[in-house]
Amino acid sequence: MIGVELESTVDISCAKYEYTDVLLCHDDELEGRRVAFILYLVPDWDKSDGGTLDLYKTDCNFQPTEISKTIVPSRNTLVIFEVSPVSFHQVSEVLSKDKCRLSLGGWFHGPSLDRPPRYIEPPLRRNPHLPRDETLLMEWVNPVYLDISYQENIQAEFEDSSEIQLKDFLRQVNEALSLSQIQWTKKGPVNKRCYDVASLDNLPECVHGCWELLHSEAFFLLLSNFTGLRLHYLCPSDDDDDKEQNAKATVKEDDAESSTSNINSSAVESIPKCTGELRRWSHGSYTLLHDGEAAQAEFALDLILPFQCADWDTEFGGFTCYVANEEDEELLTVYPEENSLALIYRDKETLKFVKHINHKSLYSDSSRGKTFYDFSFVYYE
Ligand SMILES: *[C@@H]1O[C@H](CO)[C@@H](O)[C@H](O)[C@H]1NC(C)=O
Ligand SMILES: *[C@@H]1O[C@H](CO)[C@@H](O)[C@H](O)[C@H]1NC(C)=O
Repeated sequence: MIGVELESTVDISCAKYEYTDVLLCHDDELEGRRVAFILYLVPDWDKSDGGTLDLYKTDCNFQPTEISKTIVPSRNTLVIFEVSPVSFHQVSEVLSKDKCRLSLGGWFHGPSLDRPPRYIEPPLRRNPHLPRDETLLMEWVNPVYLDISYQENIQAEFEDSSEIQLKDFLRQVNEALSLSQIQWTKKGPVNKRCYDVASLDNLPECVHGCWELLHSEAFFLLLSNFTGLRLHYLCPSDDDDDKEQNAKATVKEDDAESSTSNINSSAVESIPKCTGELRRWSHGSYTLLHDGEAAQAEFALDLILPFQCADWDTEFGGFTCYVANEEDEELLTVYPEENSLALIYRDKETLKFVKHINHKSLYSDSSRGKTFYDFSFVYYE
């Protein structure tokens, strides 16, 4: 019927989706899976109950763009589709509070198709610090955090655990950030992420001020004091001696093997840089772990500074999970906390994702709490 050569093996399993369960956009491509099938065992089901099977169109980079077909589950209906590098699909969130979306599904196997080369996204632009002095810190940052001996305590704690949260970080944040005037655009592709980013061209002046703060030379220095990382050439680095010795040791090893291979190992001093976004999170937002990210992982300092999440419930999702690349082991979860600066130092084996924000977020009692915002920056030594 669909002209796919098959072998005699088949995978089959039963899946149960209930309120807020979702299977975000993916392509099913694993060795040998050629045809996917689903037999629905649902009660009377309506599109408004959610749980639809959505198939995506793809662009010239084989990345999913928009939904091309939506299949509403119906009892005793069998759905079959070919698995390929472009067979992106999702099971949308189940919105019915009492119905259960039960199905049998699996794959018929066959010889794998050739995959197109993995699409590597252009990296976000990295900027060196902006030349702004400490008056910017005094204007924006809670004075507690500018106290030198307090900074030393923070650094000791950070060096111990590689992460820290600094509460009430900015002074007077609610007055200062008029987030409603910002223009937002959706950021994808949906197999990697779905949230809104602020367009930088016309940020309201006060938001732009905060944006500048996080890019400023003074802030790079402050982060160095908090973390002991060398985010400015002026920073003392107490393991300088160790590093030099390590470098020498490496050079020596190279010498032994080949006397011409060490031009690159006399590392050029790199300039600390950062990337940043102002993001908006609401029902349906998420980010996913993906292969491309694992390939690009490197040492970096993440900064997350959330706003308007005072009555955000962790049940809604929207928290950031750090996991070890190979093991799928959860290392750390950072919950959105109002005006609390989270700093996380991650290594090459650490990946992160933001948990899908579910339908419960729409039913929070207060008028706020359905949407929150955060500054998300990454600093590189
Ligand atoms: C960082 O710490 C040094 C002293 O260790 C201090 O002189 C400097 O003012 C601090 N920088 C900031 C931005 O607080
Ligand atoms: C130095 O490294 C770059 C890429 O990392 C490589 O393209 C280049 O050939 C290397 N140069 C030498 C002399 O090894």
